[in-house]
Amino acid sequence: MTTETGIEGATREDPLVVRELAFLGGQAAPGGWRPPEDLPEVAFSGRSNVGKSSLLNTLVRRKALARVSQTPGKTREINFFRVNNAFILVDLPGYGYARVSKQIRAQWRPLIEAYLRHSPQLRGVVQLIDARREPMPDDIAMLDFLADVGAPTIVVLTKIDKLPRREVPSRVAGITAALGLDPEQVIPFSAVTREGRDDLAAAVAELVAGPSWRTA
Ligand code: GTP
Ligand code: MG
Repeated sequence: MTTETGIEGATREDPLVVRELAFLGGQAAPGGWRPPEDLPEVAFSGRSNVGKSSLLNTLVRRKALARVSQTPGKTREINFFRVNNAFILVDLPGYGYARVSKQIRAQWRPLIEAYLRHSPQLRGVVQLIDARREPMPDDIAMLDFLADVGAPTIVVLTKIDKLPRREVPSRVAGITAALGLDPEQVIPFSAVTREGRDDLAAAVAELVAGPSWRTA
């Protein structure tokens, strides 16, 4: 690959250069306000505290686009971030956090499900799973739901900096096999070391560029 420096292979091109970034707002209830459906969307899903906001910040190379929470379960709305006036990153509320009330949990599910079922511009979903743990029943249910909806799905295994380096390949292979995923679908990731950022950026760029599976 020829790079800007003109030295072959000296640097890799960034698959996602962020020039413009805007927070468009949040959707709090199914059928409630959301931004106009005129740009392709990629949604990010995962258990509360899995590192979703940290991953979004790493992806767009900003310190605090999405709020990184001290208190898990803080993100209760669907948040929309527009990038380069070209596509929208969608931060779904984290599911599965035990300490929020039953009532709030009962509100999240229809909100997330309605978004995933009915958004005409959705191009795919990035599903986050903590690399250190066995996938939880909630994670498996979400992957089943995404398969049912038919959404192209990428799985990111988060917080790999917390694993001993030599264990990373076998953990990644183990979770990939346990979930019946194609290894091509799985990206090991760390918001601390930024490992996996460019692979994720390339995968998101590819989803955005493709047609919607709903209309294809
Ligand atoms: P909610 O919005 O509350 O559901 O959480 P979230 O999924 O957005 O997670 P968030 O990014 O807020 O991170 C939760 C905690 O994990 C924070 O303390 C982060 O600093 C930490 N964290 C996130 N990503 C990483 C990572 O890659 N490595 C390490 N070591 N810690 C991380
Ligand atoms: Mg968050």
